[in-house]
Amino acid sequence: MHVLITGAHGQLGSEIQRCVERGRSEIGPISDAWKVALIDYAGSADLDVSSIRSVDSWFESHDPYDVVINCAAMTNVDGCEKDFSRAFATNALGPMNLAIATERQGAKLVHVSTDYVFSGEESGARLESDVPCPISAYGRSKLAGEGLATSRNPRTFVVRTAWLYGLEGKNFVKTMLRLAQAHSRVTVVDDQVGNPTSASDLAHELLALSLTDAFGTFHATCEGTCSWADFAQAIFEEFGIECTVERCSSAEYLAAHPESAERPRFSALDSSSLYAVVPERMRTWRTALFSYRDSYKSHFGGNHA
Ligand SMILES: NC(=O)c1ccc[n+]([C@@H]2O[C@H](COP(=O)([O-])OP(=O)(O)OC[C@H]3O[C@@H](n4cnc5c(N)ncnc54)[C@H](OP(=O)(O)O)[C@@H]3O)[C@@H](O)[C@H]2O)c1
Repeated sequence: MHVLITGAHGQLGSEIQRCVERGRSEIGPISDAWKVALIDYAGSADLDVSSIRSVDSWFESHDPYDVVINCAAMTNVDGCEKDFSRAFATNALGPMNLAIATERQGAKLVHVSTDYVFSGEESGARLESDVPCPISAYGRSKLAGEGLATSRNPRTFVVRTAWLYGLEGKNFVKTMLRLAQAHSRVTVVDDQVGNPTSASDLAHELLALSLTDAFGTFHATCEGTCSWADFAQAIFEEFGIECTVERCSSAEYLAAHPESAERPRFSALDSSSLYAVVPERMRTWRTALFSYRDSYKSHFGGNHA
């Protein structure tokens, strides 16, 4: 099996590499098929997914692929608002370019998307059949990417995840740990609810799903929901840090940070249809956070990332 991971140095791409090298995620062992897979890990400097030339030249200079897992994205939600053309190029044209290249080779494309394709106005966890209605430039660019990928390669999996954190790269957990080093209290939004999701759990599901032919759209998040403020509180509890979480509303946060993008109020995803294909379930967000603390401490030692 010849596999390409794009955006390989981001938090998800790095976690996939870690899982493959160890033969397991934090959920458990991954399939033995990955032990014998030949995997190319391409960072943004090696392969710019937004450029059809870069994608074509990469595919022309490598043996045909069986699976491509697209972890490349512009994930800076506020940055996407300011530079929609770059967001669209990366998050929409990128998956389209990969879909065209993989379709030519009969390869599968695993494309990762987001809960931010939903408006967050509805109550109840969103199903794959629910109609998306993004309220941010990031969400619009990602939704366009889903459609462009699936329309160009019928052998595409779109996997929507949420509130992702891993060991490499930037994420909310690391931001809270960093802020707590300098401040005794942090102000965090309490009226946006979602599913904090471990990159290790998501990597496990992607590696398993990509061995199947169950093409289509899936939701894949850790189980359970909380607000950002609850998440911050849990991070400080798990890491044994004394830092007070001051809860604020989205309106208060927007007033203090007028340049920031609007985010969905309730963007929880229902991942149950994934488990008809991949039996190993993702953990609860709190269980995953507990084991992330151990992974974080053994990865970074006593230092913060
Ligand atoms: N992070 C979240 O909370 C979250 C939530 C829901 C869904 N997702 C989705 O999950 C996926 C993985 O996210 P992540 O958190 O791992 O993101 P990440 O840490 O920001 O990594 C994204 C990677 O993509 C690379 N990249 C950016 N533009 C590129 C381009 N034009 N060509 C090739 N590579 C490019 C980046 O490289 P450079 O750093 O060199 O630019 C980076 O290494 C994305 O599809 C994202 O939309 C993430």
